[in-house]
Amino acid sequence: MSSTLLRTVPALRGALRASGAPKAAGAMATTSFVRGKATLPDLPYDYGALEPHISGKIMELHHAKHHQTYVNGLNSALQTIGDAESKGDFTKAATVAPLLNFHGGGHINHSLFWENLAPASREGGGEPDGALKKAIDSDFGSFDTFRSQMNTALAGIQGSGWAWLVKDKSAGTLGLVTRANQDPVSGPYVPLMGIDAWEHAYYLQYENRKAEYFDAIWNVVNWKTVASRFEKA
Ligand SMILES: [Fe+2]
Repeated sequence: MSSTLLRTVPALRGALRASGAPKAAGAMATTSFVRGKATLPDLPYDYGALEPHISGKIMELHHAKHHQTYVNGLNSALQTIGDAESKGDFTKAATVAPLLNFHGGGHINHSLFWENLAPASREGGGEPDGALKKAIDSDFGSFDTFRSQMNTALAGIQGSGWAWLVKDKSAGTLGLVTRANQDPVSGPYVPLMGIDAWEHAYYLQYENRKAEYFDAIWNVVNWKTVASRFEKA
């Protein structure tokens, strides 16, 4: 997308910056793009590797179908915007902004999510240590308090959305934020660890018992990845 359109439509500028542009910080580094097109990243583990906490069938559908749909939608939105811009049709380009936000956010959020999970037998679960632990203790009081607040935030999401542990780049502190639908984390916040509260993330296994999913997923959080994002943020 050219700088002309980005200057013209601030919402697009924010969405595209969050969708994996090179300056979007380490947290975005693994979001996959090939020749300007988003691509579905490989999972760093097998679909069944997070069982029994998240079933292999959920992981397969979530990654191969849902995430792929966001990738396709993002590429389609970018193509439409590019075509509209080449014709000087900024109105058309602007109308695609919500799709860019939704699918671009979906691609970013899921790319981060896969990497902040790991099999329980291979670094998943437990508690963070080192500087990340110190920061959590300082900003939340304790790890247990942080986890409890995150689960409360997740339970409070109406409809679809995400809860994130973030670092506020301005204040240098950790915090929790929620985002509706696929809205990406942006502004002063760097996403460190996200939990997907969409029904597609748990319903096949947990049905309406989403609190059980919110409890179980802590067994497969990859604190090594979260700590790495924290140190780069
Ligand atoms: Fe999802």
